[in-house]
Amino acid sequence: MCGIVGYVGFRNATPLIVDGLQRLEYRGYDSAGVAVINDGRIHIRRDVGKLSNLRGRLAADPIEGCIGIGHTRWATHGVPAERNAHPHISMDGDFVLVHNGIVENYLELRDELTAEGIKFKSDTDTEVIVQLIERFAKNGARGNLAEATRRAVQYLRGAHAIVVMSRLHPDELVAVRIGNAGGVAIGLGEGENFIASDIPAILEYTRRMIFLESRQMATVTAGTVRLQTLDGAAVKAVVHDVPWDPISAAKGEYKHFMQKEIFEQARSLTDTIGGRVDFDHDTIILPDLNLTPERAQSLNRLVTVACGTSYYSGLVGKFYIEQLARLNVEVDYGSEYRYRDPIIDEQTAILAITQSGETVDTLAAMEEAREKQALLWSIVNAVGSQAMRLADGYITMNAGPEIGVASTKAFTASIVDQYLLALYLGQLRGTLKPAQLRQAIQDIARLPDLVGRTLEMADQINDLAGRLYHYRDFLFLGRGINYPIALEGALKLKEISYIHAEGYPAGEMKHGPIALIDEDMPAVTIALKDALYDKMISQIEQAKARGGLVIALATEGDSFIRSKADHVLYVPDTPPLLSPVVAVIPLQLLAYTIAVRRGADVDQPRNLAKSVTVE
Ligand code: AGP
Repeated sequence: MCGIVGYVGFRNATPLIVDGLQRLEYRGYDSAGVAVINDGRIHIRRDVGKLSNLRGRLAADPIEGCIGIGHTRWATHGVPAERNAHPHISMDGDFVLVHNGIVENYLELRDELTAEGIKFKSDTDTEVIVQLIERFAKNGARGNLAEATRRAVQYLRGAHAIVVMSRLHPDELVAVRIGNAGGVAIGLGEGENFIASDIPAILEYTRRMIFLESRQMATVTAGTVRLQTLDGAAVKAVVHDVPWDPISAAKGEYKHFMQKEIFEQARSLTDTIGGRVDFDHDTIILPDLNLTPERAQSLNRLVTVACGTSYYSGLVGKFYIEQLARLNVEVDYGSEYRYRDPIIDEQTAILAITQSGETVDTLAAMEEAREKQALLWSIVNAVGSQAMRLADGYITMNAGPEIGVASTKAFTASIVDQYLLALYLGQLRGTLKPAQLRQAIQDIARLPDLVGRTLEMADQINDLAGRLYHYRDFLFLGRGINYPIALEGALKLKEISYIHAEGYPAGEMKHGPIALIDEDMPAVTIALKDALYDKMISQIEQAKARGGLVIALATEGDSFIRSKADHVLYVPDTPPLLSPVVAVIPLQLLAYTIAVRRGADVDQPRNLAKSVTVE
């Protein structure tokens, strides 16, 4: 995933841009660069590797100017090399741009431009864009950067986020968004304006932001922002006040963003619940869902679509919505749902769960549902994201910026959002007795405290990690509402420590996977004091009988399980429906501490991106 930062105003753009790119480091990259305009010329500095290399180049050969663009590149077309790093400049040196996305038809465009005499300097697909802009600036769009850009991008296939500037127009930046190549946020300052592919890059300067929709473009000067569609129609800008403060987007005293975000969960869940529960009147308030009782009562099915951790959250939410709102729930991967021509009618609601709000498979599933007239909801963390804007109604996670690639606080927030949604639907559909609703509200009010107490296990889990981090394979076993937590625990471990880990429904072990169990395959079992406890105990006994090492997640006060498992991690006694939120905490901590002991790059695991915006 690449990062983009742009600036136009009264400051020296160079350090502001590079610092902004630093805050996007979590997106992963292999080269970086910055361009500014000064004394009528475009000045560029680029380098491969980490931003420290670019900073070194700038220290040795500084550039400055009050307008600039910068980029961190994750190589797609063209190896990581200085010549392929962005920004890219046009042949005559009049235009320069940065770009996220893939020009799917770049080869034919490159051939066409080469035939016109354009000399390319890089192996990238991106360079064809800046050469096209220069071509249109010379033919027909002279003197108008936005018009030249608007005409050029009509020729591009694929998803794109582009910021371009020109020494012929040294006071304006033009930004374009087509499809889902990551977002384009425009930050509004006083006498200055900012552009970024992600909010944390510019959060310290402003929280007032405009988010480009697909097939929109913006002309940005120090004092103005003008939006239009790619057809040239003017668009009224919607300014969002992003509820994140700069501090929360920085690591603080933690070693990794993931560690910080795990420990933030007592507070972040307080924010998730805040403003949505009227404790005086035992009612749930979800105005952004835009849902009437009649429409809620007309529904006979909910389909949840999501990817990765968000998909596992949907599996937990199925229990809530079926039990509390008596609505049939189907949960599907976005990448599967979008291709199976699903049966949808006006009695179907589709719920997309996505932290980033930009996951291409989830967005595609939403578009599929939209075309079939389903009622579309989303649960998102990123304010202003595509998934938020595409939906008929939404519930924000309010978890604050989640920077670590491995999702933690957004996961627990999305579970709680579904609990609130289930109660809200139950209210509107009349499926909840007052006493039931009152009890559920009392339970959710206790959750932040229960999570805070669970986080106190960190040292014990760190010790346990010292005995486990050398294993090469793990099993995670759970049943019922905690089977999805077994899946999530396995995903956390594998995606940051690179250890093979598999989550499995415990009851399925006897149908094959139990053949895997031996002394080299630890089994992490979720055996809380619930209706399936006895079944889990027998599962633990079966694993022990085959020489397996068993780590049990147990309810505090359960002394019996000590005679069954090798290691016991006690969590507070939690209302069964909310136990997944508590049970996942030790698994997050276990994955984190094992990965740290293995020296893994916890916040930016290899091959992974925080938001998967390409297929
Ligand atoms: C979770 O730790 C992973 N980073 C990944 O599975 C993630 O949950 C998935 O890509 C979905 O992301 P989203 O919630 O932003 O749509």
